[in-house]
Amino acid sequence: MITLKSSHEIELMRRAGKITAAARALAGEMVRPGVTTQEIDSAVEHFIRKQGAVPSFLHYNGYPASACISVNDEIIHGIPGPRVLQEGDIVNVDMTTIVDGYYADASRMFIIGKTTPEKEQLVRVAKECLEIGAEVAKPYSFVGDIGHAIENHCKKYGYGVVRDLCGHGVGCEFHEEPEVLHYGHKGTGMLLVPGMVFTIEPMINMGTWKVFIDADDPYGWEVITGDEKPSAQWEHTFVMTEHGVEVLTY
Ligand code: MF3
Ligand code: CO
Ligand code: CO
Repeated sequence: MITLKSSHEIELMRRAGKITAAARALAGEMVRPGVTTQEIDSAVEHFIRKQGAVPSFLHYNGYPASACISVNDEIIHGIPGPRVLQEGDIVNVDMTTIVDGYYADASRMFIIGKTTPEKEQLVRVAKECLEIGAEVAKPYSFVGDIGHAIENHCKKYGYGVVRDLCGHGVGCEFHEEPEVLHYGHKGTGMLLVPGMVFTIEPMINMGTWKVFIDADDPYGWEVITGDEKPSAQWEHTFVMTEHGVEVLTY
């Protein structure tokens, strides 16, 4: 079932979105060679709670932290811990906050110091994928139009678009309908109508689109590329308006 949000609900998600964005910016101030992913997670959790919001990842289906911090060949759901960030790493920090029961979900990449031109390009193209997806998401277009545009952009670079994980509706539940696939065909999937709130969060692999669960993760959360090539992801929560999407996580 898909619910259209009232202006009051959208306002709550906008408030959550501002906290998510600010927490993400705080992570951005911390990332540098030598910092551990655990330190970033603790700061993010502290900040979110201080704002009167709740970090939704913590204890979600047994997830043990407030942020997902995924480094290099980790695609998503990297669990913060003693890992020390190194010069040249590319890192995704993903988090969702809840305000008065409403969620806002966003993630972005950070480059630690200077990295290779190949990784730099991957990070840039993944960001372009999010922007292109948001651009084609017009009212009364289809969810499939988003995936189609993203897949087309990646083809030019020979990158793999992850197929096993997708964007999602957001509201008073973390994951709602529709599923927002980052590949596919124009004119397929759900019709996008004003009042829908959803994420676009393309996961773009330098190599194959295939994914694996990291056998070294005792929780069974971490999703990795398996070919040791890096992956990049950017995510925002959007509300559909009569004119196009508005970002709620700025
Ligand atoms: N990556 C997911 C998303 O953005 C959420 C991760 S859930 C968690 O929708 F529990 F792993 F944190
Ligand atoms: Co999401
Ligand atoms: Co997210």
